[in-house]
Amino acid sequence: MKILVTGGLGFIGSHTVVELQNEGFDVVIIDDCSNSTENVLDGIVAITGKRPLFEKLDLKEKSKVEDFFKRHSDVVGVIHFAASKAVGESVEKPLLYYENNIGTLVYLLKELSQKNNASFIFSSSCTVYGQADQMPITEDAPVKPAESPYGNTKQMGEEIIADTCKVTPGLNAIALRYFNPMGAHPSTEIGELPIGVPQNLVPFITQTGAGLREQLSVFGDDYPTEDGTCVRDYIYVVDLAKAHVIALKRLLENKNSDNYEVFNVGTGKGSSVLEVIQSFEKVSGKKLNYKIVDRRPGDITTAYADTTKANEVLGWKSAYSLDEAMKSAWDWEQKIRS
Ligand code: UD1
Repeated sequence: MKILVTGGLGFIGSHTVVELQNEGFDVVIIDDCSNSTENVLDGIVAITGKRPLFEKLDLKEKSKVEDFFKRHSDVVGVIHFAASKAVGESVEKPLLYYENNIGTLVYLLKELSQKNNASFIFSSSCTVYGQADQMPITEDAPVKPAESPYGNTKQMGEEIIADTCKVTPGLNAIALRYFNPMGAHPSTEIGELPIGVPQNLVPFITQTGAGLREQLSVFGDDYPTEDGTCVRDYIYVVDLAKAHVIALKRLLENKNSDNYEVFNVGTGKGSSVLEVIQSFEKVSGKKLNYKIVDRRPGDITTAYADTTKANEVLGWKSAYSLDEAMKSAWDWEQKIRS
């Protein structure tokens, strides 16, 4: 079965392509390489022994998307990762985010709506919950007003898919709300490749450990948490990739109970920024240079998932601990710096 993975050269996309190929799917990747490189394909081949089809294509070019689906009419499912994801940049350039993340989603859904049967997996985020009132966060927690255009594109994306599925019987979709993805493939053939200064905690830590950054700034230690730093649910990227394959199979095998479903994908465990630093120090044997600075505007205090729905309905559970995921992130950082 042929599966289209948009953004398949990116961090989560490339790990998902590996899991799809390991499960016997034929994969075609579309990526515009705006935040990735074609070398990632070599890493995928090194792990799986198979080169996925790849087309460098910008999903904003509607006629090219139409042409792609004409040439690949045997695509039965789409996993849609391609999107811009920098929160700060989205505040500066909202239209870029609405065009990249919403415009392209509409084009894809239009194409899939014309098929008799299509399965669609959407890359959503726990950002839709904002600061949830209760922990752990279940899928029933209310969606809070978005803090940024980026967050808004995830909320709007979910609504657009839900509205489309309602009136398109052949279209089945699942939105996966990721918590905080981290780590790299255990082979160290693929991993996270942030361009410029990393915005996310784990790549900033590993780059500091590797000497690329002088010091990590810990954004605030006066939050109402046990040690005063923010708490997040760090999910290993390979576990997350596997959740996509399981969700896709659920749709392909018609096991879904509704034609639009939503699942949290996290570990169910919250870790503070200081605990993440401790994990790095433990697995690397290095002391991390960090200092406490002011809070980062827009950060929420605590977010960790209730994973009961994914565990019971999808039959998926995260397998890796924070230390194991951190070890893989550190191994990867050392490999790309060597
Ligand atoms: C961020 C995005 C979220 C997105 C997710 C994708 C924001 C406000 N939210 O989540 O919408 O879905 O990335 O991965 O940007 N931290 C530091 N020092 C740093 C970097 C981070 O102390 O240099 C802290 C943050 O304050 C936070 C935690 O580490 O408490 C995790 O931060 P980050 O990796 O940026 O993820 P989120 O903010 O949770």
